[in-house]
Amino acid sequence: MDTHALTWPKDGNTRVPYRVFSDPDVYRTELDRLFLGPTWQYLALANELPNPGDYKTTFLGETPIVVTRGEDGEIHAMVNRCAHRGNLVCLKRQGHTDDGLTCVYHSWNYDLAGNLKSVAFRRGIGGKGGMPDSFKLADHGMRKLRTDHFAGLVFGTLSEEAPPLAEYIGNEIGGRLGRVMRATPKVLGTTSQMLHNNWKLYVENVKDTYHATLLHTFFTTFRVSRLTAGGGVAVSEGGGNHTSYTRGRADTLGAAQSDKLYASIQSMRDGLSLTDPRLLESTEEFGDDITVQILSVFPNFVVQQIHNSVALRLVLPKGPTETELQWIYLGFEDDDEAMTERRLLQSNLVGPAGYVSMEDGAVGNFVQRAIVGAEGEHSVIEMGGFDHRSDNTRTTEASIRGFWHAYRPLMGY
Ligand code: FES
Ligand SMILES: [Fe+2]
Repeated sequence: MDTHALTWPKDGNTRVPYRVFSDPDVYRTELDRLFLGPTWQYLALANELPNPGDYKTTFLGETPIVVTRGEDGEIHAMVNRCAHRGNLVCLKRQGHTDDGLTCVYHSWNYDLAGNLKSVAFRRGIGGKGGMPDSFKLADHGMRKLRTDHFAGLVFGTLSEEAPPLAEYIGNEIGGRLGRVMRATPKVLGTTSQMLHNNWKLYVENVKDTYHATLLHTFFTTFRVSRLTAGGGVAVSEGGGNHTSYTRGRADTLGAAQSDKLYASIQSMRDGLSLTDPRLLESTEEFGDDITVQILSVFPNFVVQQIHNSVALRLVLPKGPTETELQWIYLGFEDDDEAMTERRLLQSNLVGPAGYVSMEDGAVGNFVQRAIVGAEGEHSVIEMGGFDHRSDNTRTTEASIRGFWHAYRPLMGY
């Protein structure tokens, strides 16, 4: 099927053809045009690779990447593919090397910036074989990425066309990202889960401020977040990046009114309490009254603050209907023991079996199953109107429309 045969519905960003969530040709085009195109994608925490020779592996879409701390003290990133015959150069998730990167297949050796340093049997044996004289090491390095930092986070791109990272993130979203990444981070733990749905169904879910207090009854029941509390959504000019935030703990409608509203839409369970209330005991750490802030950077990076639970999420496509969701739970250098304990406890809200995020892991697959055979039909995204502007309400799908606004021109739709 020709990808370009896909005609976007005339209603623009308020209609999304279900075909984009399952079509292998659409998926293939996304890998090329989005993930290898002019977008910045999260690679690492800057302080995760402290010493020259430290490295980790990750992905731009499905393309394997190795990120290193070079001899020069700088972060480098390369496609994790040997320039000889295409083998993976780094096989481990994370490690340290004292003699550059060596491919196991025929021992081509690269420095930490991906430059080819030596080729085994380059001069042959006893005057026979070996590489021709025309072979130049300098012509056969690993493919290099552009990298850039923001708020202690390292991003990479393979495109020369991507604007500077700070410009790509934008002022408002950048400020909100800096708000959470307020000090030197430390990784408290990581989890990874497979979502049996297209990656964009998860990204839509993250940007969907409207579902949170309906699908997640834990939020509503225990008053972690309700739409009747203050808050809003900020969407970047290009649409692709967003932040949603809940302001304060008090309901703008008053507790009784709010209970009534949620009771009538049946997303609240009366009379429940937590056996261990410490789970929701949070402290103010950001110097404002924002209790929940969810932020995304196009196309596949998320930063979450739910009370004192801070986590990065990386949404990695693994085929048209499979996605790996990586969670990186963070604390900060100035945390005391009680704060670390609090963050770990509150991390039970999220992750593969989180009290809140478990539903997000399930609902994408429910959608995926329901849209089989409906490739010609489309969703309806009109909550809060038709545009993708920032708003001081979360009863809106503006940031989802923003995602499609950024997605369509890159894909040629
Ligand atoms: S494929 Fe890497 S050295 Fe041959
Ligand atoms: Fe959710």
